[in-house]
Amino acid sequence: MTRPRLNQEVAQLPPSGIREFFDLVTTVENVISLGVGEPDFATPWHVCDEVYDSLRHGFTSYTSNLGMIELRREISGLLRRLYGVEYNPEKEVLVTVGVSQGLDLTLRTILNRGDEVIIPDPCFVAYGPCVKLAGGVPVPAPMREEDQFKLRPEIVRSKITARTRALLIGFPNNPTGSVMTREELLALAEIAEEHDLLVISDEIYDRLTYAGSHRCFAGLPGMWERTVLLNGLSKAYAMTGWRIGYACAPPDIINSMMCIHSYTMMSAPTPSQVAATEAIRAGEPDVQRMKAEYDQRRRLLVKGLRETGLSCFEPLGAFYVFPSVRGTGLDCDTFARRLLQEERVAAVPGRVFGEAGEGYLRATYATSMANLKEALVRIERFVRSLERQR
Ligand SMILES: Cc1ncc(COP(=O)(O)O)c(C=O)c1O
Repeated sequence: MTRPRLNQEVAQLPPSGIREFFDLVTTVENVISLGVGEPDFATPWHVCDEVYDSLRHGFTSYTSNLGMIELRREISGLLRRLYGVEYNPEKEVLVTVGVSQGLDLTLRTILNRGDEVIIPDPCFVAYGPCVKLAGGVPVPAPMREEDQFKLRPEIVRSKITARTRALLIGFPNNPTGSVMTREELLALAEIAEEHDLLVISDEIYDRLTYAGSHRCFAGLPGMWERTVLLNGLSKAYAMTGWRIGYACAPPDIINSMMCIHSYTMMSAPTPSQVAATEAIRAGEPDVQRMKAEYDQRRRLLVKGLRETGLSCFEPLGAFYVFPSVRGTGLDCDTFARRLLQEERVAAVPGRVFGEAGEGYLRATYATSMANLKEALVRIERFVRSLERQR
C-alpha cells in the first residue's frame, strides 16, 4: 500500500482562479488584457542604475536577516513622513520577499491550529489559502456594492467567535478598488480592542488613492500594539519582479517572524534591497507620475464602462474597477469567458476573489490608454450583442 505523497492541507488547496483564467487567456490570440494586477510601467531607471553600481562594487552577499539597515531606516522614515507612525528600524521592521512572504510569516507567527481569521470578501486571492496553510480557518466577511465595498463593522461582529484571533484587512482593496476612511477604520479598531484581536493590515496600495488620503491602520489610537503592517514596493514603485516588501510590528512579533525568515529565507535578495532603498530615497516623483497616469485611466474606464450600460462603482484606490455584470443576465464566469472568446478582452470573474464577487468583473487599468479605449469599444459591442440576444 502506498501512502499519499502530498500533505493533506496542500492537496486540498484549490488552484488559484486567476491562474485558471489566465490559462484560458493564453489560448486566445491578440487579447487586450485588463487582467493582470501589476503596473505596466518599468521600474524607474535611477533604481536600476543604483543596482548596476552596487553589483560593480561586488555588493552580492547575504544581508542581515532583518534586511539592510539602510533600507529599514528608509522604510521607517517613509512611514513617519506619510503617516506619523513610528517604527524602530533596529527591531520593528522586517524586509520580506514581497507582501506575499510578509503575509505568510505573519500568519505562521500568530496562529495556532484552528484559529479563525476574518478576511474581507471579495479579497486578494492569497488571503484564504495563506490562512489555511498556517493552520488557521479563514472566515469571509462579505462586502457589498451598496456599502461601496467597505467592510461594515456589524458584519465583522457577526463573524466573531471564541476562536477569532485576527482580522486581515487590505484597503485600498484588491479586487474592488474600495477604500476606507479614518472613521470607518476606527469602527474596526473598536472591534479589535473589544475582542482582543490582532489586525493584519495589507497596505500595498496605500500610495494609489485618488480622493482623500490613505490612513495607516497602525496610526489609529491604540492600534500600533495590535497591528502587523504589511507593505511593499511592488505596486507604487512598479517593482513587482524585485520581490521586496516589509512587515512592521511590535518587536515580539517581528522577532518571531524574523526567526522563521532566518530558517526559511535567510534574507531578501540583496540587489533588490539596494533597489528598494533607492526607490524610497529618491522615487517620490516616480510614484506621483504613475499615480497621476493611473487616475486619468481610472476616470476613462469608469466613465466608459458606465456608457456601455454596465453599472460601475467608483473605485478610489488601487488600479482596479469592479463593474457589475448582473444586468446582462450572465454569471461572471460566463461573461468573462464569452468576452474573452467573442471580443478578445480579458478581465477576471469577480467570483475568484470570493463568493461576494459573484456578478462582478475585475478589470485593471494598469495598461495603456490606447488599450483601455480599444477594450471599451469591444466591451460595448459585446454588451450590445447580449442585449440583442435577450
Ligand atoms: C492586496 C495584495 N496584497 C499583496 C500582494 C502581493 O504583493 P507582493 O508583490 O508584494 O508580494 C498583492 C499582489 O497583487 C495584492 O494585490
